[in-house]
Amino acid sequence: MKANVMLFAVFPYVAVALAIFVGAYRALVRPSTLSSLTTQILESRMLFWGSIPFHWGIVLVLAGHLVALVLPRGLLLWNTVPLRLLLLEATGLVLGLLALTGVLILAWRRLSDARVRSVTSRMDVVVLALLVLSMATGILTAVLYRYGSVWFTAVFTPYLWSLVTLRPRPELPADLPWMVQLHALNFFVLLAVLPFSRLIHVVTLPLGYLYRPWQVVIWQRSEDARTGLPGRRST
Ligand code: HEM
Repeated sequence: MKANVMLFAVFPYVAVALAIFVGAYRALVRPSTLSSLTTQILESRMLFWGSIPFHWGIVLVLAGHLVALVLPRGLLLWNTVPLRLLLLEATGLVLGLLALTGVLILAWRRLSDARVRSVTSRMDVVVLALLVLSMATGILTAVLYRYGSVWFTAVFTPYLWSLVTLRPRPELPADLPWMVQLHALNFFVLLAVLPFSRLIHVVTLPLGYLYRPWQVVIWQRSEDARTGLPGRRST
């Protein structure tokens, strides 16, 4: 079997099957583990500066990818005015850089804070590395191979729809530069590891993280309990 058939026609279905079946098994058998297993109580400052830009950046960038997938004609129409094309590409780039900065801060936090490191698994490191790779290859694709918001609709929109309709066309991405292929493949790798990692929390759509204030932790000390005074607040 040719490599591109394996990578772009077989592997995507393996990744989706793993995500659905292992994810469903985990949801049914261990529903309490469908969480990001927050470490906010161990360290909250770097978490704030990493998590907020990362989540805003990635959600909006992926929303942009979704527009290219479901509204390709609208996107092409928008891009017929050069200023609008530049505005869109620049916005995507800024959001990508925001997400990359956020995930780098989160990775640094995991490695530099001893308490957070002590609860970090190998899978956490793998997921962070894959996310960094996703963002970095996406940004490099946008910078090196302009203008992605135009050619995405000619290559990736039909390719992704060919997967959805179960008539895969692996020849479509086969001739793209390796950086772009790696960027697309990395998405399927992320999908495959999703049910085995804390990334699973995306299925619970925790949108509250985007706007909620910092968690307020109330320490109940023994002297507070004795005096009946309210506990100390820490954010
Ligand atoms: C985990 C999923 C993904 C993440 C986090 C991600 C992230 C990014 C980022 C940060 C950028 C740069 C910002 C931008 O220009 O929008 C980007 C660009 C791009 N991505 Fe993705 N991406 C993902 C999945 C995919 C998939 C599955 C494809 C194609 C099948 C794809 C194709 C592209 C293309 C063609 C660009 C260039 C867009 C442009 O130049 O305007 N991405 N991606």
